[in-house]
Amino acid sequence: VALAAPSPVKAHSTKTRSPGSRSKRPAAAGVYLRAALASDEREFRALRLGSRRFHARWGIVPPRGIEPGSRRDFRLHLDRGRKTDRERWLVCLVESEAILGSFTIGGIRRGFHESAVLGYWIGASHAGKGYMREALQLVLRRAFVDLKLHRLEAEILPENEASRALVRGAGFQLEGVARQFARLGERWRDHERWALLAQDWRPRYLPQSRR
Ligand SMILES: CC(C)(COP(=O)(O)OP(=O)(O)OC[C@H]1O[C@@H](n2cnc3c(N)ncnc32)[C@H](O)[C@@H]1OP(=O)(O)O)[C@@H](O)C(=O)NCCC(=O)NCCS
Repeated sequence: VALAAPSPVKAHSTKTRSPGSRSKRPAAAGVYLRAALASDEREFRALRLGSRRFHARWGIVPPRGIEPGSRRDFRLHLDRGRKTDRERWLVCLVESEAILGSFTIGGIRRGFHESAVLGYWIGASHAGKGYMREALQLVLRRAFVDLKLHRLEAEILPENEASRALVRGAGFQLEGVARQFARLGERWRDHERWALLAQDWRPRYLPQSRR
């Protein structure tokens, strides 16, 4: 499977809700995934800069010494997206082609595992609008159909309700807590480990109820 420079991933069809919808669930608006290009630098950096507090709260920060929204932050996004053990995508809006956020299928382990770990963030101003829920469906199709992975994991801070809701809504199950799993700032932090198996994946899965 070619992992470098994958072609864009789009939904076959996208359901949208009218703007006046009373539903509590935010409307899906039509998103697609594509690899980042050098020409995305300005837009990407502005998005990261405007989201730095939102992201820092949940540990989405570049390695020490690199400022979020800096040129090096962008270069890192580009370069790390080209490794053979990962795919990294921008989430973009169909209507305007604006960059909304990013998904990474990282740490791809073949052989005995056929597994990978998800990483993701959205720009602060776009959060809570249903975009990532919709983008995740595209990512899951990519992971299970194209990459033929067997298992997809997400490691989440227990208090990150948005992230928990995102993966739970796609059918991930909570498998346990990894103690002091990652150091964020100066502190080692426990993380919940969520996972979805290919056999349990239901395309376009939508949760009927909240736990
Ligand atoms: C996690 C994140 C990507 C979710 O993106 P989003 O655009 O807000 O998500 P969506 O609007 O598509 O909603 C997905 C689910 O999360 C829920 N949700 C969104 N924001 C929420 C919040 N602040 N509190 C509780 N639930 C929330 C939505 O209701 C939806 O659940 P549902 O399908 O059961 O209704 C976003 O909050 C983010 O980028 N956070 C900072 C970075 C981060 O935490 N990355 C993940 C690290 S593990």
